[in-house]
Amino acid sequence: MRAGVRLERTAEPCVVVIFGATGDLTKRKLVPALYRLVQERLVPAEFAIVGAARTELSSEEFRANMKEAIVQFSEAKSVDEEVWESFAQGLHYQKVDIGTSEDYVKLAELLERIDGERGTQGNRVFYLSTAPSLYAEAVKQLGQSGLAKPKEGQKGWVRVIIEKPFGTDLASAQALNRDIHQHLDESQIYRIDHYLGKETVQNLLVFRFANGIYEPLWNRQYIDHVQITNAETVGVEGRGGYYEKAGVVRDMLQNHVFQVLSLVAMEPPASLNSESVRDEKIKAMTSVRPFTPERIRAECVRGQYGAGSINGKQVPGYREEEGVAPDSATETFAMLTMYFDNWRWSGVPFYIRSGKRLAKRVTEIAIQFKDAPHKLFGSEMMEQMTPNQLIIRVQPDEGITMRVAAKVPGQVTRIRDVNMDFRYGASFGMQLAEAYERLLLDCILGDPTLYARTDMTERGWEIVMPILEEWAATKAEAPFPNYEAGTWGPQATHDLLEQAGRRWRRP
Ligand code: BG6
Repeated sequence: MRAGVRLERTAEPCVVVIFGATGDLTKRKLVPALYRLVQERLVPAEFAIVGAARTELSSEEFRANMKEAIVQFSEAKSVDEEVWESFAQGLHYQKVDIGTSEDYVKLAELLERIDGERGTQGNRVFYLSTAPSLYAEAVKQLGQSGLAKPKEGQKGWVRVIIEKPFGTDLASAQALNRDIHQHLDESQIYRIDHYLGKETVQNLLVFRFANGIYEPLWNRQYIDHVQITNAETVGVEGRGGYYEKAGVVRDMLQNHVFQVLSLVAMEPPASLNSESVRDEKIKAMTSVRPFTPERIRAECVRGQYGAGSINGKQVPGYREEEGVAPDSATETFAMLTMYFDNWRWSGVPFYIRSGKRLAKRVTEIAIQFKDAPHKLFGSEMMEQMTPNQLIIRVQPDEGITMRVAAKVPGQVTRIRDVNMDFRYGASFGMQLAEAYERLLLDCILGDPTLYARTDMTERGWEIVMPILEEWAATKAEAPFPNYEAGTWGPQATHDLLEQAGRRWRRP
């Protein structure tokens, strides 16, 4: 439990073992991120990586594949030969079949050898990037082989990072938590949610609690409602088989979007200690009003995209994607109206929407303030005006915008909205670090603040279970597909806000 906002701290020597090392995530994200950490000297020279998977592969072959991956998927699109040399020396491959205990004996031998050669001191991160159905088995095997704890009489630490999805519903998430707690202490478990590694998501804490001017307004007295938009232009990208069973509520809402939501809604933490921050997040989520079938019908909308056009390119509908049933009922879009029944937020709706194949890739939080209490300026002076909005752009084009009313220059009083803008790119002139880079380093440093705790994973599921159940049992009101690719989702989402006298922002 260390401070959640990282100051320069020194990472200790360690070995990162990646289970599922021949998979997509390893080459797209994990190895490029670890390479950057080495390049930026954020990890010490006493550092090594072991790729582990079922495939027979030599360490040489693995190194060659990873070098290619770094060139293809890193920001720089190249490797620095000097950095690569030292990185490659610490890069190994070991065949591990998740269910085979003998393989863990061999893995343990390799890790000991690496400790001797590289001085990694028995410190280990195990990264579970396998099929989710193997997470519990992998942890069990680590436990039984003695790898889940430092060796008897030795100092050192063992941490386990678990990729998403963490369960597929409340019962399976609870079961997984129970299983892994048999072999690991909660302090060893790092459940990753890459949204928490995004710079702008972390900035939410700084923005809210390092500034004096926003927090006094951050409540039901001044805020009319909050909109969170998480829009993607991509479809299911060849993952039709997975997505059919998931849908957007499981894939994005209960994890990524709820993490962002909890940071918007939480109370100020007592300190930046990881437990204080996570305590406040779960406290906020505990006060989320439960979804009843009536509320789901009246205040939530599901959607599925049909064919359409994105950036001038024709794209197929969801049901035409590979691995998707021609009559699929899986939702690729969802909108929820959420309420926090607590003192700060009583009566303030949080409108949340997330979807694939929408008009634009954007994730943003828009806080809409109440109107000025007295209308001094008549409507004839208003050229165009919406109430004040504070927009926090999580991605892309990261930044914060405040929309305020201003007088249009001239002899008569005319009023219009203008933007006060902060852009990360312009203000800091540097490339933002990849989420995985930040999160991997946090784990190596022993800081779980930006990882999901047991209670948060279960609470996310608890909130969405009634929706998943209701939607599984009933058909959508407007038959699927009910929105065209390249639009802002089903018409019902716009109608719903309109009925409340509000309007979705067009980011
Ligand atoms: C993943 C989901 O967790 O997040 C994908 O499984 C989704 O379906 C992705 O596309 C979005 O991540 P980002 O960082 O591009 O917003």
